[in-house]
Amino acid sequence: MAVLLAAPGAIAQVPALSDAPLKTIFGDKFQVSVAVNDDQAKNIDKDGAAVIRHHFNSIVPENVLKCSMIHPEKDRYFWDDADAYVKFGEENGMTIIGHCLVWHYFLPEWFARDDKGNYVSADELKSRMRDHIHTTVGRYKGRIKGWDVVNEAISADGRYCNTPYYEILGEEYIPLAFQYAHEADPNAELYINDFGMNEPGRRDAYVRIINDLKRRGLRVDGIGMQGHMGMDYPDLDDYERSIEAFAATGCKVMITEWDMTALPSLTNTATIDMKVDDNIAINPYVNGLDEDVDKHWNSRMDAFFSMFLRHADAIDRVTVWGLSDATSWRNDWPVTGRTDYPVYFDRNLRMKPFLKKLSDYHKTKK
Ligand code: GLA
Repeated sequence: MAVLLAAPGAIAQVPALSDAPLKTIFGDKFQVSVAVNDDQAKNIDKDGAAVIRHHFNSIVPENVLKCSMIHPEKDRYFWDDADAYVKFGEENGMTIIGHCLVWHYFLPEWFARDDKGNYVSADELKSRMRDHIHTTVGRYKGRIKGWDVVNEAISADGRYCNTPYYEILGEEYIPLAFQYAHEADPNAELYINDFGMNEPGRRDAYVRIINDLKRRGLRVDGIGMQGHMGMDYPDLDDYERSIEAFAATGCKVMITEWDMTALPSLTNTATIDMKVDDNIAINPYVNGLDEDVDKHWNSRMDAFFSMFLRHADAIDRVTVWGLSDATSWRNDWPVTGRTDYPVYFDRNLRMKPFLKKLSDYHKTKK
């Protein structure tokens, strides 16, 4: 296999640029995809942008297409950052994904409320949703390949989350959102996306929702399994059952937001207000992971990536949520300022051992 050299113009000292491109090795299995931040899309973070160009053939915007970012006021849209994101993808021949049209976070204050702060009527919310979706999807018609239409609608037990959309429109808001998105760009793929997809209640609810959308004749192409994981969740078998259940609906399965925190989970909410600096219990690896933790993290990531490869017939895209440990949102959630190690590349843009090992193995098979 010959195409394994660093990209032309590569920044020589960035280690990730000397690795064989992930997209060359795994691109025939699924889209090799990454969430891109604003600095990377605008080439302000030159090393990061170079690594994205070298390794990935598909991108998702970390934040710039979310509702409050592009539609801060009812009659005002802001496109600069979203345009830069789409341009970055086009200039580099990547598959460009849109994320996300309907979500109760990053929802601007005005969206579901009137001047007095009360919920708007069902008709008014429909008209606002329609305007937002038509304008956003319409702007990038033919350029963005597919959209996360609805994000995080269902609780672990399978019930609809109590969001403004649900409280005002009931279950109908999901089919409506899919209808509006399809009207705006009939060729765009449309996805539904959520976290904790290993939960049986949520899994069953999504299978029902997908089947219902199809029964109504609405376009739905994919189901996104976010994949924000930890060292002891989700269970591999539960996750695999969900891949199989979603694949059985006929939809493409997408691993849309993959990362794995190496840090202790904060189950006790009292810790959320603690100062991270002096708390070794909640921020234990400031100078690097302990060897056993590093090993466990790599072995779990290996197990999941190998599972994705096993299900490559069903899985259309695997998106890692952030390029490097330095820029991952996990450092700042659920408390700010921790030092986490959740993604493919470390703080010096070196590929993690599990991925290097899998790359070397699959490279030799080509
Ligand atoms: C959710 C969203 C993403 C992102 C992550 C956290 O999973 O879908 O857009 O905001 O949370 O960064």
